[in-house]
Amino acid sequence: MYDVYAIRKDFPVLEHVVYLDNASTSQTPKPAVEAMNEYFFRYAGNYGRGAHRLAQQTTEHYEAARETVADFFTSEPGNVIFTKNTTESINIVAHGQDWTPGDHIITSMIEHHSNYLPWVALRARGVVLDLIEANQEGIVDPSKIERAITDRTKLIALSHVSNVFGSVQDISRIVKIARKNDVPVLIDAAQSAGHMDLSVKDLKCDYLAVPGHKGLLGPQGTGILILRDPEELRPTVLGGGAVEWVRGCEYELLEPPARFEAGTPNIPGVIGLGRSVEYVSALGVANVKKHVEMLARIAAKKLAEIDNVTVYGPKDRAAVVPFNVAELNPHDVSMILDETSRICTRSGYHCAMPALVSLGINGTVRASFGAYNTAEEVDLLAGSVSLIATSLV
Ligand SMILES: Cc1ncc(COP(=O)(O)O)c(C=O)c1O
Repeated sequence: MYDVYAIRKDFPVLEHVVYLDNASTSQTPKPAVEAMNEYFFRYAGNYGRGAHRLAQQTTEHYEAARETVADFFTSEPGNVIFTKNTTESINIVAHGQDWTPGDHIITSMIEHHSNYLPWVALRARGVVLDLIEANQEGIVDPSKIERAITDRTKLIALSHVSNVFGSVQDISRIVKIARKNDVPVLIDAAQSAGHMDLSVKDLKCDYLAVPGHKGLLGPQGTGILILRDPEELRPTVLGGGAVEWVRGCEYELLEPPARFEAGTPNIPGVIGLGRSVEYVSALGVANVKKHVEMLARIAAKKLAEIDNVTVYGPKDRAAVVPFNVAELNPHDVSMILDETSRICTRSGYHCAMPALVSLGINGTVRASFGAYNTAEEVDLLAGSVSLIATSLV
């Protein structure tokens, strides 16, 4: 049985607030925080360097986290790179390969800026960018992607779940289309990792960009990039810890993944992330999915029933519920929710301006749910929004 009240005991911060900003970043459970404390108090050293006991223990724990993550996504440790966030993971793909003028990249109009601007920036190198429009509910039609493919298409980059609409894209169909046409595909799993089963073995995408700090409940400053073939990318950052040898101006890179992790990484963060991934595994991704989607469905229904409230996105949604109260500025609504009821929501453009512009609006309030939220919190949200909305009449 999924006991959300027992789960909440691992997140002391939830005693003080109603935390509904999980699409932005999540709270981290006690076992993961304890794993980080243990690193600092018992064995802090550097990773991959040094023969002394602390360096060795650190390296063992760091690599154990990599194995945990690799298992979670049915990948191999050599294909898992630790980064600082989804944004960095996507940028490694954008800047880690040669592009030739005329190369063609397909993405959508509703992407988060992090899966949009790296591709826009490549236009300076002559890359042609195709921005596929989504429908009013944030669904991207896979056949539009198929029709956009040309013999110069070098990448399809798409988010699994929209952080603006909560819409879920048919990524297995999109990856099949990409494979059929021999086009590499990047999936931005920022809003789905930890909430939906994501097996790279089944999905067969080329790149999976994942935040550690959202559905996986890891600490902030952690991200993951899973590569199908790590040899196909060049590291974007060079330096200590990434090379086998250096002689004069010659050097040889280490095998992946080390070549992609130059410099001292976020060691405590990665160790905490490994522990939080174990935590999410123990909850069961299928259970978390059912729970957060149930909360989002109820929230969308209750909010839509309030006069003056507009809810956006599809009926079958992930854990994201965007809405507006009449013509009120979303920031004002979000501030009132915090001040009156300690409800934490996100407001504004959600780092996806083109998506909001496509809806013809200047932002939304966004409630987004995590493994530890409850139906009572949904009621509180609906009650508080109702008070704001009725005060307008
Ligand atoms: C769909 C999507 N992509 C990318 C990102 C960027 O994630 P990060 O903050 O981990 O870089 C986000 C963050 O909200 C997102 O929702």
